[in-house]
Amino acid sequence: MTESTQQERVLIFDTTLRDGEQSPGATMTHEEKLEIAQMLDEMGVDIIEAGFPIASEGDFEAVKEIAKQAENATICGLARANFKDIDRCWEAVQHARRPRIHTFIGTSPLHREIPGLSKDQMAELIHETVSHARNLCEDVQWSPMDATRTEWDYLRRVVEIAIKAGATTINIPDTVGYTAPRESAELIRRLIAEVPGAEDVIFATHCHNDLGMATANALAAVEGGARQIECTINGLGERAGNTALEEVVMALKVRNDIMPYTTNIDTTKIMNISRRVAQVSGFPVQYNKAIVGKNAFAHESGIHQDGMLKNKETFEIMRPEHVGLKETNLVLGKHSGRAALRAKLKDLGYELSDNQLKDVFVRFKALADRKKEVYDDDLIALMHDSATEAHHDRIQLNHLRVVCGTSGPQTAEMSLEIDGEDHSVTATGDGPVDATFNAVKALVPHDARLQLYQVHAVTEGTDAQATVSVRMEENGKIVTGQSADTDTVVASAKAYIQALNKLFVRREKGKPEDAAHSA
Ligand code: KIV
Ligand code: ZN
Repeated sequence: MTESTQQERVLIFDTTLRDGEQSPGATMTHEEKLEIAQMLDEMGVDIIEAGFPIASEGDFEAVKEIAKQAENATICGLARANFKDIDRCWEAVQHARRPRIHTFIGTSPLHREIPGLSKDQMAELIHETVSHARNLCEDVQWSPMDATRTEWDYLRRVVEIAIKAGATTINIPDTVGYTAPRESAELIRRLIAEVPGAEDVIFATHCHNDLGMATANALAAVEGGARQIECTINGLGERAGNTALEEVVMALKVRNDIMPYTTNIDTTKIMNISRRVAQVSGFPVQYNKAIVGKNAFAHESGIHQDGMLKNKETFEIMRPEHVGLKETNLVLGKHSGRAALRAKLKDLGYELSDNQLKDVFVRFKALADRKKEVYDDDLIALMHDSATEAHHDRIQLNHLRVVCGTSGPQTAEMSLEIDGEDHSVTATGDGPVDATFNAVKALVPHDARLQLYQVHAVTEGTDAQATVSVRMEENGKIVTGQSADTDTVVASAKAYIQALNKLFVRREKGKPEDAAHSA
């Protein structure tokens, strides 16, 4: 037996598609959810929380399709403490090889006040709803929301009730990111020691990052006896986010000497899914983010570089390739052929069919004509643009010409294809981007409010591509758009148009917001 097979397994429960997607602005399309779910399944995530089926028709369909497509992972849906939510959740997850119902209720004094239930009434409701879920599904997870601010005696009492009613996993959420590592470990330790039946269930930890302690709290909970960590890719999630999957998994791997637990995660797939989640959610990864940030493996200073050249371990506790970062010096340019592009994209985690490669190659050549050297990050941005440019989009950019000068206003001459017809306009604005956005607005009148406009240089140099992200809001619906181009204004126009296209899709589908934002 190898050392690792003797170690205890910690289950990884990913909630990027539920808690992550719930964060304002991180909405993903149906196809994007399916794609992320497949990546999670392939990287070895044990349980995927695919959504909140009662929240909307869209959520329901996504959970159902993910349940059908998953090969290995357990597929879980979220439900509040009522029969209607639970039945709807079961309707969606029952298609999975391994389905799970996750039902929850806020148990802290503040949360008990909202439905106006006494402690006894809530205890009775927990018994009824968990029993009901268990009658439908063998695998039932129960969560006392805001557990870390729930009175100890009451928490112990309701956990016991949930176990007796048939819950197989008890999740202890730190909903508002309030706990600290010692307390997190102690809470799980005490529950396991004092609740009758605790030895028959798995305890899970679900931490939010309001005080920047989500990863530390989750790992401490494992020390206390939790054997399931709930987390999201890039730590995506409400407010400051959730525990980051890549952080807990790599911490358990790198510091296995003091935390002797294994996970089933193929860590070489981390970078790729991190990039994809950043792209589809419209939440860029901060440069100095642990594990997946652009600078996480960069060594700028002279001392560091010197040390690295002599022995990589001087400043590196894990190898970049362990998280799927390839160390290659191969830069592509306009003379690079299709084979070189295919090999490079494969290195970056993109396996393309011949047809897809044909399409990407045309875009690559166009980029290489404008930019002498095409780096990995350029290709990632290019792949993203190819993936997000939907051919059925109602609005497409046909032409843009912006005239700038030292004395404004700037002028944008634009033509868009809208529902198959060409429309043109000339608009002015305070700067080239403002003029461009005014032109879009003149051609596509709307009341959506621009909440965020962000520009990032993909690489260095004046010929670098710019990635532009926009976030827009209309009647509580939030959509994002992202695009890259060597011309910042063109990237801005495309990102804006992409967000509008998404908004039209959401208008058509209509999405009740109430349930989706109550967990
Ligand atoms: O943070 C939280 O309490 C949750 C629950 C629904 C598990 O996300
Ligand atoms: Zn949460």
